[in-house]
Amino acid sequence: MSNNAAIILAAGEGKRMKSNKPKVLAEVLFQPMLDWILDATAASDIEQRCLIVGHFGEQLVDYAGDRCAIAWQTERLGTGHAVMQAEGFLNEAKPDHVLILNGDAPFMDADTILGALAEHEAKGNAVTVIAADIPNPTGYGRIVRTAEGELERIVEQKDANEAEKAITEVNSGAMWFRTADLLWALTKITPNNAAKEYYLTDTISVLQQAGQRAGVFVTANAQIGMSANDRIQLLELNELARKQVLLKHLANGVDIPVLDGIIIGKDVEIGNETQILPNTILKGKTKIGSNCVLGPNTLIIDSTIGDGAKLNNVMFEQSVAEARVDLGPFNHVRPNCHLGEGMHAGNYTELKNSNIGAGTKVSHLTYVGDSDVGSDCNFGCGCLTVNYDGKNKHRTTIGDHAFIGCNTNLVAPVTVGDYAFTAAGTTVTEDVPANALAIGRAKQTNKEEWVLKKKPYKNMK
Ligand code: UD1
Ligand code: CA
Repeated sequence: MSNNAAIILAAGEGKRMKSNKPKVLAEVLFQPMLDWILDATAASDIEQRCLIVGHFGEQLVDYAGDRCAIAWQTERLGTGHAVMQAEGFLNEAKPDHVLILNGDAPFMDADTILGALAEHEAKGNAVTVIAADIPNPTGYGRIVRTAEGELERIVEQKDANEAEKAITEVNSGAMWFRTADLLWALTKITPNNAAKEYYLTDTISVLQQAGQRAGVFVTANAQIGMSANDRIQLLELNELARKQVLLKHLANGVDIPVLDGIIIGKDVEIGNETQILPNTILKGKTKIGSNCVLGPNTLIIDSTIGDGAKLNNVMFEQSVAEARVDLGPFNHVRPNCHLGEGMHAGNYTELKNSNIGAGTKVSHLTYVGDSDVGSDCNFGCGCLTVNYDGKNKHRTTIGDHAFIGCNTNLVAPVTVGDYAFTAAGTTVTEDVPANALAIGRAKQTNKEEWVLKKKPYKNMK
């Protein structure tokens, strides 16, 4: 394959978002629009990327990290002017062809990018515009064709006459250029138009007049150019993407009886026969097995959940649950937990940075943090690991088959051996050997007839 690059235009102000961050960081399904575009270029094997930044540019430099080169556009003089800022990048990277993308149009896909490139190369085009036929073309640049059906030019909404406004074939904003031809054509465009901007689209006539070929690649993806200029359009993009993701999972055999409040990120994987109930949100790099029941009211972020797991009213972050883990209702699993097969955490429990073995039960009102717990243990109600001394965190280690009585405090660092017991109400400050019983509490004494003598209640004679 040829050596290619992408330039992503993201210097625009995005005023109508009324935001304090750059528009391309506005999120669709919890992922910045920029990520969608970077993912589409990565899926197209385009590794050299340059991001054109301007408004809130520092935030974009931080966010992009080493994923993109950066070029600054300090004045916003149009899409052609924006691409001119990448001259240094192009001279250094020396790609054969370069793809221009709008940073606020997240639905670009690799099939379209690669289909357009194949045609661009096969036809020997200097420029290939990626176009779509859409029912409501208002706002887009229209594709004007010659009587023979060839590309004549692109006319912007602001510059179009009535006949041109009726054209439904539009410029998605994305185009492939042969790099040398792009760099030359950019020196020839002028801001002679209604917006007084350097239009990238004007390079087309410049190249044609120089005897070069300009083509159009019409994609079947009608959403390709959809962008968000304000929060209402952003909501539309979210709703569209949300529905498409849910339909994909339904087609794969995931059971979603009602769509209410269910939002699933674009990269989430889910096995068949898993049921998803209302108000369940699955984000980031999350992978769910088959035959699970998730929800209602469950949030899972960057986590892996095994087959047959049940999570009812759970918040689950950056952790792993093996098969048949049963959580809920009302648990919080904080980052870095590994929950063994079939373990159970019930009402009002919090787990953090802990490994918990297969079959262990933590049924009620318990906090387990910074711990390594074996398999088949039982925690009574109201147990705590005392993991923080105000300065440092310490770990608690518990063997297999241990029984942690109700209201036990485990003051870390501490170890409880296999099959050991702790009596209810014990504060464990020293290691408990295997098979031992630890009791650490004042011995009970009963004061006979105390109430009759003391008369502690009102109206007692
Ligand atoms: C552009 C196209 C139009 C196409 C539409 C698709 C031109 C002249 N018009 O119009 O044909 O149908 O996209 O959405 O190219 N930007 C900069 N610097 C600038 C100007 C823009 O970085 O000086 C960036 C914006 O941040 C945005 C992108 O370029 O990401 C597109 O700019 P925008 O002003 O939205 O172009 P449109 O008028 O929508
Ligand atoms: Ca736009």
